[in-house]
Amino acid sequence: MMRIPVDKETTIPLYRQIESFIGAQILAGTLAPGMRLPSTRELARSLGVNRITVNNAYAELEAQGYIASLQGSGSYVAEVASSFPHIVNDDLGGQALPGWQQRLAGGGFGAAPADGRIAALKDDPEGFWYAGGTGDGRLFPVEEFRKTLQVVLCRDGRRALDYDDPRGYPPLRETIARIMTSQGIPAHPDHVLVTSGAQQALSLVARLLLRPGDTVLVENPTYAVALELFRSLGANIVGLPLDGEGLRPDALERTLAEARPKLIYTIPNFQNPTGVCLSGPRRRELLELASRRDVPVLEDDYVGDLRYDGRHLPALKTLDVRGGVIYVRTFSKMLMPGLRVGFILAQGPVLAHLENCKRVTDLASSSLIQRTLEAYITVGRYHAHLRRACRTYRRRRDLMLAALAEHMPPDVRWRTPAGGLFVWLELPPEVKTVELSRRAADQGVGLVHSSRFYIDRRDRPFLRLNFAGQAEDRIDEGIARLGRLLADRRDTKE
Ligand SMILES: Cc1ncc(COP(=O)(O)O)c(C=O)c1O
Repeated sequence: MMRIPVDKETTIPLYRQIESFIGAQILAGTLAPGMRLPSTRELARSLGVNRITVNNAYAELEAQGYIASLQGSGSYVAEVASSFPHIVNDDLGGQALPGWQQRLAGGGFGAAPADGRIAALKDDPEGFWYAGGTGDGRLFPVEEFRKTLQVVLCRDGRRALDYDDPRGYPPLRETIARIMTSQGIPAHPDHVLVTSGAQQALSLVARLLLRPGDTVLVENPTYAVALELFRSLGANIVGLPLDGEGLRPDALERTLAEARPKLIYTIPNFQNPTGVCLSGPRRRELLELASRRDVPVLEDDYVGDLRYDGRHLPALKTLDVRGGVIYVRTFSKMLMPGLRVGFILAQGPVLAHLENCKRVTDLASSSLIQRTLEAYITVGRYHAHLRRACRTYRRRRDLMLAALAEHMPPDVRWRTPAGGLFVWLELPPEVKTVELSRRAADQGVGLVHSSRFYIDRRDRPFLRLNFAGQAEDRIDEGIARLGRLLADRRDTKE
């Protein structure tokens, strides 16, 4: 029997309440076409209302085409296209919002509203998508992962569907420690905390170490959603300039003295968005300065192992002997972002605090996904994946660089990124990337505004192009279109 929450204390007539409840169920599809509704007598008895009330409700529903009654056999749900108009309606029927909701209106912490037209290009087979922040979804090992998922469910049964250790599924933490150690970053499983992607790792660290008004030092420009995170916590964000060797230690030294930060957030490898790597000597200098001022360093190594040229530089974590660095890594870029698996590597009391933070945030990451990842990713397989990803993305980077050399006007400049996902273009000073992205979207080319990467959210003449997510045979044409737009400068100025 339907449980309709009728409220006899309100001024809304009972028949209206019954009618709108049943109508909503039909629209949502929970009452499917052809289903027989309870008789008016049955429903009236179960709700404790007069039978005429139910009759009136059914008559209204029938008049609106939601139900049909067949002589002698009762009422049935009619064919209605299911939708959720009663739920998605966000004007709340013209009611005034409660005060606390009104105070929140217009707030937010700087997330730019998504431009639907640009976002749609991501899945458009005719589109050229350079705005993304990940590798290529077409390389995801879908079938192998499906098989592993099944194997894990058969093997572990309900344990795979239960809560797991808040620090992460222990065998996965062991695999992570082995992968890290195999890459020259010695790690013990007890120092690994599994998180829902690197983003949650950043969030846990920031929540632990920053109070409203505290200063965090970041490279400027930097990863857009880290900026949004720090803003959301009310932090005072101070930027450090970058050059071809990463953040400038002279600026760091000065700013450390002046701003007295509580945290330094850095992306030493293939920085997002500029693609630059922090040089070896500067890594040591950064650690030395941070240690002297007793400031924790949050090292975001989101694509550190996607290196195409030259040798890997030591992670800050490897150079750190005193527990001053909190290291963050993710399986999102090298494997699949939808797994939402990343991790923190840290030592000392901060680790226990972060474990508690993780527990009160979401109890634990998905046991099923962690177990499947663990069954899937041995050290050998990780390296095989890495080799394949590097081969593919290196080829795409080179194609992108060749296309840029061919199609860009002479006043557009860039550096060759030694790894990662992005080329960072320096455009002529008068170009506005907001306007450029709008024009580019008309040509089927998806770009991201530069303002997202800057602390002050001001547009600057730089463009982050993702080369890794683009099929090889489409790189040249997209860049050619972009080149034409930039050559026709009238189109890109505001
Ligand atoms: C620099 C950087 N850090 C962290 C993340 C978050 O990655 P995830 O939460 O998917 O692991 C991203 C994603 O784009 C990123 O670019």
